[in-house]
Amino acid sequence: MLAEGIVHGDAVDLLPKLPAGSVDLFFTSPPYADARAYSRIHPDRYVEWFLPYAEKMMVATAETGSLVVNIKNRVANRGALKGQRHPYVYQLVLELQQMGWRWIETYIWSKPNAVPGKFGPRTKDSFEYVYHFARGERPFFDLDAVRVPYKADAAEIARRNLDVNGRRTTAAGFGRDRTKTYLRGGADPGNVVSVPQTYNQHRGVSHTAAMPEGLAEFFVRCASPKGGLVVDPFAGSGTTVVVARRYDRQALGFELHEDYVHAARDRVAAGQADDPAAVLRAVGQ
Ligand SMILES: C[S@@+](CC[C@H](N)C(=O)[O-])C[C@H]1O[C@@H](n2cnc3c(N)ncnc32)[C@H](O)[C@@H]1O
Repeated sequence: MLAEGIVHGDAVDLLPKLPAGSVDLFFTSPPYADARAYSRIHPDRYVEWFLPYAEKMMVATAETGSLVVNIKNRVANRGALKGQRHPYVYQLVLELQQMGWRWIETYIWSKPNAVPGKFGPRTKDSFEYVYHFARGERPFFDLDAVRVPYKADAAEIARRNLDVNGRRTTAAGFGRDRTKTYLRGGADPGNVVSVPQTYNQHRGVSHTAAMPEGLAEFFVRCASPKGGLVVDPFAGSGTTVVVARRYDRQALGFELHEDYVHAARDRVAAGQADDPAAVLRAVGQ
């Protein structure tokens, strides 16, 4: 399967073919509720739809492995909740936790270039969620891989490194040693990850929901080890697989729709897509 890169089929059938405990990272953007012509899963039934995939991913995940899911809220367009935000994302998160997935973090994917429009009594959607779940108590996580440039200038960094009164207990009770603040090669980017959305960016890959490479890059780099196995069970145009291979991971994707399979295989074979890897930066920088 690894040689194929993108395997055609339903992930619910393909996931059990992965050896138990073999996957370091499942990174995926599943079909969102009710959204696209290729899925049409009603938000009321979304959790029920997703759970069999989550169970199979759990079996295939290594003890130090993770499941990272990019998902988006939606507004209910019918039923009792019509016009309100539907709670399916939160229901899913709670069910996954009940299943035994350890809820490690909620990231906000901030989209500085989200498309404006008419959305009723609300602003445009300019973020999506990325939920990090882990199989075990000590998941792999490499913060150094996603550090961003410090905001302070070189003079301030030099001054801080020489600060003889570096360790001070603040009113809040923290005794942080400020002389060590700038010794880590970059700042912690925080859990709001700003990556511009790229719209229909892949020539020949007319996938309507392709994610930007920068999003995959962030999570592949921090949540999987080099040489590890990254799997995207809802591979679409193959973004996860392309990016994971670029960063020296083994990678595999499953995709239900044949057109996308061919397009994604071409993209994986070329080893690159049209949008350059995004420059990661903390929000506000
Ligand atoms: C949101 S898109 C993923 C986009 C992808 N991240 C990219 O950058 O191109 C979800 C994909 O899941 C695929 N899909 C839906 N149900 C599936 C299933 N049961 N098994 C495998 N793929 C499925 C859809 O065809 C769609 O391409």
